[in-house]
Amino acid sequence: MAPQHIVEVSQFDCEFLELLFSSADSMRSLPRPSDLQSGRILATIFYEPSTRTRLSFESAMLRLGGSVISTENAREFSSAIKGETVEDTIMMASGYADAIVIRHHEQGAALRAAAVSPVPILNGGDGPGEHPTQALLDLYTIRAELGRIDNLRIALVGDLRYGRTARSLALLSRLTTGVELVFVSPDSARMRDDIRDQLTVAGIAFRDETDLARVLPEVDVVYQTRIQKERFESEEDYLAAKGTYILNRAMYDLLNPNAIVMHPLPRVDEINPEVDADPRSAYFRQAHNGVLIRMALLNQVLGRR
Ligand code: CP
Repeated sequence: MAPQHIVEVSQFDCEFLELLFSSADSMRSLPRPSDLQSGRILATIFYEPSTRTRLSFESAMLRLGGSVISTENAREFSSAIKGETVEDTIMMASGYADAIVIRHHEQGAALRAAAVSPVPILNGGDGPGEHPTQALLDLYTIRAELGRIDNLRIALVGDLRYGRTARSLALLSRLTTGVELVFVSPDSARMRDDIRDQLTVAGIAFRDETDLARVLPEVDVVYQTRIQKERFESEEDYLAAKGTYILNRAMYDLLNPNAIVMHPLPRVDEINPEVDADPRSAYFRQAHNGVLIRMALLNQVLGRR
């Protein structure tokens, strides 16, 4: 049987979401230790830095009773430095592990990995492309925090050009009803046309805004993102975008009292820690939900023992 890969948001449907979210809910009360994946091995191969994605996948596998093998700086400390291709690395790792999480600096790398892999590939972020498992945990967090995923107005803020998490969440919103997306970004970091075109085809309402203060009172979710210095083509563009949108106490005073603030993290200066204790700050709860969603995903692609 062909392995089930998790590489892009377009492969998900409403039925998949419902089953996954209900499975993630059930992971909260799973006995520890669990043996759902005992005897199985997950490989995490990360060519780009990560704290949350790698550690939460590893935590998820360990909590399911499985084991983990890992290379956290594969660009330098794997045979990539000797010129090995992604395809060859995956062919090797698939003999060592039952599933592979890959993060790579090139858009499309996870698809290339999936094309050759006999074991499930999970895309942990491919350059400025997609981050599908993050989008799943983001929508799961919205459901957990607000009790629904439909009829929401969501502001995506910051680096929408290179931000794979915002791109994937925008695409995943096609599986909800009554959503309106508000893109709040500097000119040099606007949402790209590939996502806009797919939203238009799906009939999802979206608009651009530049004034975050004006948007805050009218949205249910603020999805703040980091301006990613490492992805900008010029220092000039980065400097023009940096520091444009900062959420601090004064901005929170404008925020709808029932709204939540999310962030895929890491943050630099775009959310001031002075608002961390505000109950509307959901970003740490969001990161913790990553373990539940990734436990559910691993059970899904590996099957339960
Ligand atoms: N949200 C996210 O992808 O974080 P990491 O880069 O730490 O994995």
